[in-house]
Amino acid sequence: MDKLRIMSVFGTRPEAIKMCPLVQELGARPEIESLCCVTAQHRQMLDSVMEVFGMKADWDLDIMAPRQTLSHITSKCLTGMDEAIDALKPDMILVHGDTSTTFAGALSAFYHQVPVGHVEAGLRTYDKYSPFPEEMNRKLVSSIADLFFCPTVSNQKNLEKENITQGVFITGNTVIDALKTTVRKDYVFATEELNRLPYDEKKIILVTCHRRENYGEPMKNIMLALRQIAECHEDVELVYPVHLSPVVRECVDQYLRGTPRVHLIDPLPADEMHNLMARCYMVMTDSGGLQEEAPALGKPVLVLRRETERPEAVAAGTVKLAGVVQDDIVTMAERLICDPEAYAKMAHAVNPYGDGNACKRIADAILWHFGRGDRPDDFVI
Ligand code: UD1
Ligand code: UDP
Repeated sequence: MDKLRIMSVFGTRPEAIKMCPLVQELGARPEIESLCCVTAQHRQMLDSVMEVFGMKADWDLDIMAPRQTLSHITSKCLTGMDEAIDALKPDMILVHGDTSTTFAGALSAFYHQVPVGHVEAGLRTYDKYSPFPEEMNRKLVSSIADLFFCPTVSNQKNLEKENITQGVFITGNTVIDALKTTVRKDYVFATEELNRLPYDEKKIILVTCHRRENYGEPMKNIMLALRQIAECHEDVELVYPVHLSPVVRECVDQYLRGTPRVHLIDPLPADEMHNLMARCYMVMTDSGGLQEEAPALGKPVLVLRRETERPEAVAAGTVKLAGVVQDDIVTMAERLICDPEAYAKMAHAVNPYGDGNACKRIADAILWHFGRGDRPDDFVI
């Protein structure tokens, strides 16, 4: 029997971190030829992840441009994907999550009548403009996809409400599979500054911020809140690997750079980032991925957004929505910095997002879909 040609398409850092373990799992299955097409919506940040996982793309669209617009990404991906699909002739295309690469990858697969598997399916805020454009991207992909790999039961329930009930699997999130390969107790950082941080003497707060809906006033408020926290608390050090987006960098330079106890550094390779998270005191972020990783590592998270499509860790008590108003962010952060009881309540490891076997379940589900194996059991907490 011919091998199934399964092509994974991704382009940004978080997609790569969550898809590399899956591409590798698919490659380990004798029935599958695992192909990897990157759009390079992100260039340096994508290449860094590929290096950490020791992966090479079979096809590279190389689309990134400085300050790219959503239309630029979508149109470049669509035209580039035509060629990739014609050349690599996949039996199924896998896309991940909610980026512009995800949407364009799925749409292109549809134009070529290639079935689509959606990894990290079923997340919703039900607010069309937040996160922007991600909420619409994932809804549109739900209309195109044939297989739906939901991280959690609440994601599956969201799809059920939209009458999507066929080809739905609860797999856990592949990010937990990735964490299993990167986090080590005896890890030594390649970034020397991270080896020198006073993990035992001070409270190290890991920060990231990049979302488009936070551009402008909300991001300014976030930067001013971070500044206030660092200035007022001598026992705190903020470590902030700054996203390469020029919009983000300008805001950081204008409102945060030069503040004592704030370490502004370049984006970290995924293994460095995960091990830093494992050693920090708490996390402040608007990232989706960090909201899933930090709870698994027992670190409290303050989410610098108005909403979240990841309610599971909020319910488990390890993640709190801090919003985008300066005073609110400072108040919530100070509670965790100054009140050991409040901190202890949030600092316990929970794993609502997976058990590290998501990739295995997804590979099994794909083989089942093509009549070459049994249906996998769902992930249950
Ligand atoms: C994208 C995704 C977002 C995801 C985020 C993860 C969309 C619309 N947005 O947003 O869902 O949460 O990635 O980080 O798909 N840049 C570089 N080098 C890089 C990466 C980015 O220089 O390696 C700069 C470029 O100037 C680029 C800009 O950052 O134009 C913004 O990148 P883009 O992918 O458009 O948006 P993100 O905010 O990264
Ligand atoms: N990450 C990283 N280096 C960094 C910042 C983040 O490797 O300097 C990782 C992080 O651990 C997580 C992922 O990138 O796995 C999250 O990506 P991002 O915040 O860019 O996107 P989102 O998850 O919000 O879509």
